[in-house]
Amino acid sequence: MSKKKKTIFICQECGYESIRWMGKCTNCNSWNSFIEEVKQPKEQRGIGASTTQKSTKPLKINEIVSEKEPRITTSMREFNRVLGGGIVPGSLVLIGGDPGIGKSTLLLQTSAQIADKKLTVLYISGEESMQQTKLRAERLAINTDKLYVLSETNMHQIIHQIEEVKPDFVVIDSIQTMFKEEVTSAPGSVTQVRESTMELMKIAKSSAIPIFIVGHVTKEGAIAGPRMLEHMVDVVLYFEGERHHTYRILRTVKNRFGSTNEMGIFEMKELGLQEVMNPSEIFLEERSGGAAGSTVVASMEGTRPVLVEIQALISPSSFGNPRRMATGVDSNRVPLLMAVLEKRVGLMLQNQDAYIKVAGGVKLDEPAIDLAIAISIASSFRDQPTNPEDIFIGEVGLTGEIRRVSRIEQRVQEAAKLGFKRVICSENNLDGWTVPAGIKVVGVKTVQEALKLGLGE
Ligand code: TYD
Ligand code: MG
Repeated sequence: MSKKKKTIFICQECGYESIRWMGKCTNCNSWNSFIEEVKQPKEQRGIGASTTQKSTKPLKINEIVSEKEPRITTSMREFNRVLGGGIVPGSLVLIGGDPGIGKSTLLLQTSAQIADKKLTVLYISGEESMQQTKLRAERLAINTDKLYVLSETNMHQIIHQIEEVKPDFVVIDSIQTMFKEEVTSAPGSVTQVRESTMELMKIAKSSAIPIFIVGHVTKEGAIAGPRMLEHMVDVVLYFEGERHHTYRILRTVKNRFGSTNEMGIFEMKELGLQEVMNPSEIFLEERSGGAAGSTVVASMEGTRPVLVEIQALISPSSFGNPRRMATGVDSNRVPLLMAVLEKRVGLMLQNQDAYIKVAGGVKLDEPAIDLAIAISIASSFRDQPTNPEDIFIGEVGLTGEIRRVSRIEQRVQEAAKLGFKRVICSENNLDGWTVPAGIKVVGVKTVQEALKLGLGE
């Protein structure tokens, strides 16, 4: 009797399975994302199936011996910090980003740095030939004996080579190019990506080899295809940046071994990526002090404070619907803050266009930047510059009150380090820490008070 091949339709965005084709995924609402794939025969699961295997018994948590293996560190401190202090043995790390942003460059550089530490590295590319990788390595001035390069897309070959080479670190350049023969779907489909990742996870966990996987991103910016890929791996990193800027930001989205929202900053140079140790200086470099509509905020990026300039341009709207545009900050906060300024301070903003921008192409997403946005808007609206030596930190509530933010001490220290003279923040933030020398901290209760101080009237 011949077994009938069963096919199912799988949403390439979220992995949702359906027996029928659908135009719109009922799970994640994406359009036209279903592709027919052959259903993989499931291995026998369930209660009966595992009785032949050796079962593990639960242990008391105090009885479990923790194995503290040293992390592998690279010579790029930014990279290590993003990972929470280096690469954990046996971890599976996914790194996503737009094409051409520098993922392959970053991983080839890190591979070389690890190889320089006398560890064996296997760099597997499914996208470039060995010659292409060699050309890139020459450009990056890589000269090391322990770095192996393989151009391969077949998972069986890859596993075989990992067993042969016995590397201490593996890079898979783009999971979307990898395939397993017994899976009939095309490379890059949800099933292939899932099966290949499973395979890599097994290797990583059983042999304690850390594996870095490159993942492509979709137009919307999520890692292509399967959201579940993010659930399977230990760490998810995004490599971002604007094409026209040379700065690149490596951001943690998930980290089983460290804090998320950590951020590392790199600059793409002629000779590859270089880490940026003092991001605040760079973000403030092009600032023209004394311009109306510009303020500086100290925002926390993970465990590190970064000073960034927030710019606003407010101009009378020539059409019925005023425009509100924001890059680098949550665009919903802008109309909200404008409404607060209108209602609580009396600024007539309703028929004004508003453009808000974070200079340098960074994205900020904590409420502590509210006050700086509000001051920038008021400053541009009144065409009155703020004092270039002032910093504004605070969350703005709907009644116009300024709320406390976390880690004020670190933020103020960073501001003092870069020569700022005065910090304006919530009154509730004043107690319980010491103000560093050379800087004054002024507490305010409301947006009005902050405006009076900032714009001096
Ligand atoms: P790449 O690492 O190939 O990107 P990804 O793997 O994310 O697709 O990066 C390619 C870009 O980086 C390309 O536009 C050229 C630029 N680049 C440099 O500016 N300097 C360099 O030393 C290298 C290797 C690349
Ligand atoms: Mg690449």
